[in-house]
Amino acid sequence: MPNLAQIAQQLVATGKGILAADESTGTIKKRFDTIGLESTETSRRDYREMLFGAKEAMSQYISGVILFDETLRQSASDGTPFVEMLRANNCLPGIKVDMGAKPLPGHEGETVTEGLDGLRDRLAEYRELGATFAKWRGVIAIGEKGPTRASIHANAHALARYAALCQEAGIVPIVEPEVLADGKPGNHTIEVCETVTGETLADVFEQLRIAGVDLSGIILKPNMVIPGINGPTVSVEDVAERTVRTLKATVPATVPGIAFLSGGQTCEQASANLSAMHKIGGLPWALTFSYGRALQAEALAAWGGKAENVAAAQKAFVHRARMNSLASQGLWEADVDRAA
Ligand code: 13P
Repeated sequence: MPNLAQIAQQLVATGKGILAADESTGTIKKRFDTIGLESTETSRRDYREMLFGAKEAMSQYISGVILFDETLRQSASDGTPFVEMLRANNCLPGIKVDMGAKPLPGHEGETVTEGLDGLRDRLAEYRELGATFAKWRGVIAIGEKGPTRASIHANAHALARYAALCQEAGIVPIVEPEVLADGKPGNHTIEVCETVTGETLADVFEQLRIAGVDLSGIILKPNMVIPGINGPTVSVEDVAERTVRTLKATVPATVPGIAFLSGGQTCEQASANLSAMHKIGGLPWALTFSYGRALQAEALAAWGGKAENVAAAQKAFVHRARMNSLASQGLWEADVDRAA
């Protein structure tokens, strides 16, 4: 049985990253709405089967997949459990365990992520079902006055309690504090994102230390330092420089890997920004992707919910996975991306 550090290292192996396919039932409905498809247990299965069946992507570029509870228990149309389908490609199955961001009392527009009660028992079951790692997403919203200490601290504390419970269960925690780029009003500058991301990560690592979490057995999943989606545009180099600077100031070198989320970025931006960070160099941790939208958006559009489009959708997914694999090594090129 591999230990926590070995699993964490496997998740960030050179040239590989994580596929976040853990959209909750509510979120996947929103994604399917964009292609005019009804979200049912069968359509959700067909969609995930299309992704996990893209052998070239899954075996070469994807180290692990974050699943939603339903998907962890689901099987492909031929009866093969998804967990086995992933394992056949040397992909680790992971599980989203938080119960979502809920309104933070007394702090309008801010949230705290719930799901700690009963988590010990749920983790034990997920481990039985084959999960080797987990995910919990805390959301930090930048409103007119910026996030409050209450919101940063409540989320950091919950992330640390979750991480400690995961490690007790022999599961690697992905610690995801997301400073939202696509919240409301979403017009903040990159400078504000840099300050808030720095404060958030500092609090998260303090809470992890207090909780006794072994940093060699976690993966950090942060946002990149970017402006709000309605904020002033910036260069790729600016994003890369500020992100690396913020991470170096807050993330201990004992953390084996950092795998970014992609919210608020286009597919190409997410690849370009990651690649540019590697050009800066001197990074003490592996730096890769754990994208949801930036890995899936093109494949979802190509699929459109139709069986006859599966091959085209898989081709789009393989391409995106390959582009991000290159980006995770500083080797992504815009013209290669666009030539596809
Ligand atoms: P995005 O890459 O679409 O932000 O999703 C990643 C994720 O897992 C969010 O929790």
